[in-house]
Amino acid sequence: MKLRWIGSVLLSAVAYYVYLPLPSGVSEPWKLMLLDALFRSCMHVGDVAHALGVCHRVSLINQVVSWVEVIGPRSCPAVDVSDILLGGVPTRVFRPIGGQKLKRGVVYFHGGGWALASGRMRSYDLLSRKMAEDLDAVIMSVDYRLAPEVVFPGQYEDAMAASRAFLSAGVRERYGLDPQRLCVSGDSAGGNLAAAVAQELALDSSLEVRFKAQALVYPVLQALDFHTASYQQNHDVPILYRPVMARFWLQYLGADPALEPLLLANNHSSLDQAGLPAAHRSKLDWTALLPAGRRKHYRPVVRATGSPGVVDAVPALTDVRAAPLLAERGVLARTPRRAYVMTCEFDVLRDDGLMYARRLRDAGVEVTGDHYEDGFHGCMVFAYPPVSSSVGRRSMDNYIRWLDQNL
Ligand SMILES: *[C@@H]1O[C@H](CO)[C@@H](O)[C@H](O)[C@H]1NC(C)=O
Repeated sequence: MKLRWIGSVLLSAVAYYVYLPLPSGVSEPWKLMLLDALFRSCMHVGDVAHALGVCHRVSLINQVVSWVEVIGPRSCPAVDVSDILLGGVPTRVFRPIGGQKLKRGVVYFHGGGWALASGRMRSYDLLSRKMAEDLDAVIMSVDYRLAPEVVFPGQYEDAMAASRAFLSAGVRERYGLDPQRLCVSGDSAGGNLAAAVAQELALDSSLEVRFKAQALVYPVLQALDFHTASYQQNHDVPILYRPVMARFWLQYLGADPALEPLLLANNHSSLDQAGLPAAHRSKLDWTALLPAGRRKHYRPVVRATGSPGVVDAVPALTDVRAAPLLAERGVLARTPRRAYVMTCEFDVLRDDGLMYARRLRDAGVEVTGDHYEDGFHGCMVFAYPPVSSSVGRRSMDNYIRWLDQNL
């Protein structure tokens, strides 16, 4: 009797912890709730360890991830898998066995807020493996260095070094890469790195070989407006909550974490910020760049007076290498001829992606916008058991299909 009572109390506590009111329309809400509970408990344990001074919250999570999720370079009959250094950066290579002699190639950057995860995690390993197999392409999944040990521009520089090596004659010859059919890609913070790499390499006229395409999966592209329509709409939708994204940004830029409330108030992009030219604002003016259906009833939050000097103190906030949405139109026009931008309705970063797709299109790039009305941030890598979601499988299939048809 007593046991049953304890059992039901425990069960209610778990249900209370897991249950979360979710917007109607999101794909398989119960799975998302469980995923969120898992993420939240990791974050909480990390916070406790951090507060006790045991270790940085991020290190603990990465430690757990590497115990549970990171797997060795296991080859299978269809794909040869090995760990190499690409431009000095640890990278896992997935190379199809047999097939075409000259192969398409994708250099891929994983997500995780520039601080978490690895291309050697089970989920990313499976994604790369499937890409290699389905596309008969060589996939190179790059493990750039992570925050807090390394901050901007460290991650960006690793991504650049790996991408330059990927395009080099030596690597192309060694892996049989077709110089006409190479793509740069990534999801979330990895999409940020992929976009930044695509821009920087577009400006380098000394390159012999260029990317044919860039494929960005729910990328994070700007840190000036934390009140875009999608930030407002999805502020409490898992798994990427609004304050968590602000924290990831501050950590990536090596800024004081105490700036978080200020960023969330849009005080850093107030009209009295001397360091913020008006031209930058127009590049993320979602009232002009988004269709009305996405803007809905949301209103922009533009402060006349904020916290002056923040942009001067954290100049990376307006650095295009950190925030690719701020690029000039002329730069966008020179990026790879074809672009794919995946966005999810239930994602604070939806409008980062939608605005970038629109600006690329305005600059003359052939853009495929792939929007998931029931998608949530991170869904594409939750396409396998035990966290297999329907929108995850659909988005992964469509992403791979786009690469097949456009690369
Ligand atoms: C934002 O700026 C306003 C005006 O300067 C100030 O009153 C407010 O305290 C600031 N908010 C934060 C969170 O810093």
